[in-house]
Amino acid sequence: MISDDELRALKLLKSNTNVIKTNGKTYQRIFPTRKYYVHQWFWDSCIHAMGLIYYEPQRAYAEIISLLGVQWKNGFIGHITYGNKTNNYFPNEELWETKKFSQTGVVCSGLCNPPLLAISLNHIDEVLRDKGEATDTVDSFLDRVILYHNYWKRFRDREDSGLLTLIHPWESGCDNSPRWDNVMENIDLKVIPQRIIDLVKNNRKDTRAGTMANRPLAEYYYRYLYLIDLYKQHQWDTDAILDITPFAVKDVQVSSIWAKANQSLAALMKRRGKIKEADYFSSLAEQTNEALRNCWDEKQKAYKNFDVSHGKKDAIYSDTFANFMPLYSHAASDGQVAVLLKQLSDSHTYGSKYPIPSVSLKSPFFEIARYWRGPTWPIVNLFILEGLKSYSDNEQCQKLFKELVKKTADMIRTIGFYETYDPNIGLADNYQNTLSGMGYEEFSWSAAIYLYLKNKYMEIMN
Ligand code: DGY
Repeated sequence: MISDDELRALKLLKSNTNVIKTNGKTYQRIFPTRKYYVHQWFWDSCIHAMGLIYYEPQRAYAEIISLLGVQWKNGFIGHITYGNKTNNYFPNEELWETKKFSQTGVVCSGLCNPPLLAISLNHIDEVLRDKGEATDTVDSFLDRVILYHNYWKRFRDREDSGLLTLIHPWESGCDNSPRWDNVMENIDLKVIPQRIIDLVKNNRKDTRAGTMANRPLAEYYYRYLYLIDLYKQHQWDTDAILDITPFAVKDVQVSSIWAKANQSLAALMKRRGKIKEADYFSSLAEQTNEALRNCWDEKQKAYKNFDVSHGKKDAIYSDTFANFMPLYSHAASDGQVAVLLKQLSDSHTYGSKYPIPSVSLKSPFFEIARYWRGPTWPIVNLFILEGLKSYSDNEQCQKLFKELVKKTADMIRTIGFYETYDPNIGLADNYQNTLSGMGYEEFSWSAAIYLYLKNKYMEIMN
């Protein structure tokens, strides 16, 4: 029997769906939220598919088919897939000047998003096998997934360090995280041409569709668009961009997802008897996990990211959820896990009533409502709870994993399918006794994560 909460989640995912015809081919895709994010976002859709596979496999496949429909020859897939003609979102399709790279006529942005594709497909494959269903649709995607991984390895880890380089905060999906502040502020606002400032002033729509208090400040938006403009001038040639960009960061969060994605791709290959390929992707995952462990700074009790723009290698420390991401790929050593567990359980840092705040409650950068500067995001919880679960011999990890499953599902179910949540109920002075969802409402991936938890961790939730 499907519960009322599941029905509500499925209904939202259905109503947040676009059906779009391009060059005679029909694509069906779920957009994040009707008010603002009206196109398809890469990492959101990977998550939608992970929740939908339990109920409507065809719709899960449709998410992936649509994402693969924009793949460039070099394997790249952009973080936004366009096609919906509404004008509710800025930047629009034309601004990117990427149409020339499309092989199907469907246009995507010129930036990446965290590489969740193989993770999503591995989950789909496991669910189908558990149900005794055919996996040939998954098989049909795999060559393009390999091409996608080849893009990341070839272009985003030119040093073969195991850590990926991002060229824009949007590539992390955590646009406004304080961990980008220093690198962004190195871009002097004076170098940004007036036409870009005007473009942002005249076209920015997120603050009209939502609350200013939730959204990134204007000075960051000018820089977001400045970087896009710069990359357009380099024809979206990643090598050329990496040579000149003021924003190049080796990032712990996306590198952890990369390691997990390679583990997932290795599992998909192994199940298909492709041992050579499986070994290759496993070795990539191991290389990244070792690099992540070595990013640990014992004094700071945190993993370092690196600003690698213009040949630099400057450590970036930040007290954000990204420090827990090496749990997700099982990179964290026992000693590191012990420190992370302490931080996760401390009610003054990350152990809030509705964990896990995107920034430590104690950090001077913590802002309860602003995008990636404090609010709790279900996607973060998903990464961390899966990570904790993987430390199967560690009782404390198992305990926290189960608590986090319950708290996350409970938060989404009782408050609703919001983009973000107030982590701090009962703790922050101004927010005592409030029970609030924040950001945009009717948000698709919160519904999909609820469905995923409900099915995958049924025994824990009941
Ligand atoms: C936005 O526009 O806020 C997005 O996060 C960029 O992907």
